[in-house]
Amino acid sequence: APGALEVHWELDSTSSELLRRGAAAPDLGFVLAETQSAGRGRRGRGWLSPPGLNLYLSCLKRFEQGFAALSGLSLAVGVTVLRALERLGIAGAGLKWPNDVLAGEGKLAGVLVELSGEYQGPCAAVIGIGLNLRLTPALRAQAGQPAGDLAGLAGGAPPDRNRAAAALVAALVEGLRQFEREGFAPFRDEYRRHDLLHGRPLRLSGALGEFDGTGAGVDARGALQVRLADGSLRAIDSADVTVRRA
Ligand code: BTN
Repeated sequence: APGALEVHWELDSTSSELLRRGAAAPDLGFVLAETQSAGRGRRGRGWLSPPGLNLYLSCLKRFEQGFAALSGLSLAVGVTVLRALERLGIAGAGLKWPNDVLAGEGKLAGVLVELSGEYQGPCAAVIGIGLNLRLTPALRAQAGQPAGDLAGLAGGAPPDRNRAAAALVAALVEGLRQFEREGFAPFRDEYRRHDLLHGRPLRLSGALGEFDGTGAGVDARGALQVRLADGSLRAIDSADVTVRRA
């Protein structure tokens, strides 16, 4: 069944809502909340979700191929957010691997992709996007990391929230169909053009321990390529990445 867009005043988390529905959710469905009481970020972090200013959107998309075929999906979603901003006439945002959307140093949007189902059979991806239209000084202070908003990027008033939501939904409908047919390949050039880590000195930490290198693009699966001090290239599937200060 084709999907619909549901709008709620408050949910714990738009992504948790879709994960709970699981099999009962349509093949492609969207849930938007004005505010979230327990917004979730990547790596167990929270996502501040006060009402009135920003967008909290999740989408459930089913895939027949199984999640073995979904590498690069979360990067493709980052590219899709950039496409939506471009349609709103907002240029200048970049990508920090895997899928943070930044305006300068500040995080403009976060993407959380959660998979359920089978490795080589039917599965579903719940894709959550938090997009900052306008931040208050208090929110910036609470964010725990440099934050940015569309008002700052557009140099004044942010776009209308309904228009921004519609642009995101339209870009996702198209982008997810494209990903389903062709995988990450048609997104990779756009990713490269907006890759803020390219050529930058990086510190990586995670299950692999902590090490330094230089950003060297993303591979065909969406892994981050890092040039090590000995000149070799290492492909990273999962890590926390920060840009080192000189
Ligand atoms: C990140 O840590 O960068 C990802 C943040 C994702 C936040 C969005 S807001 C809509 C959806 N619902 C959630 O609870 N999280 C995602």
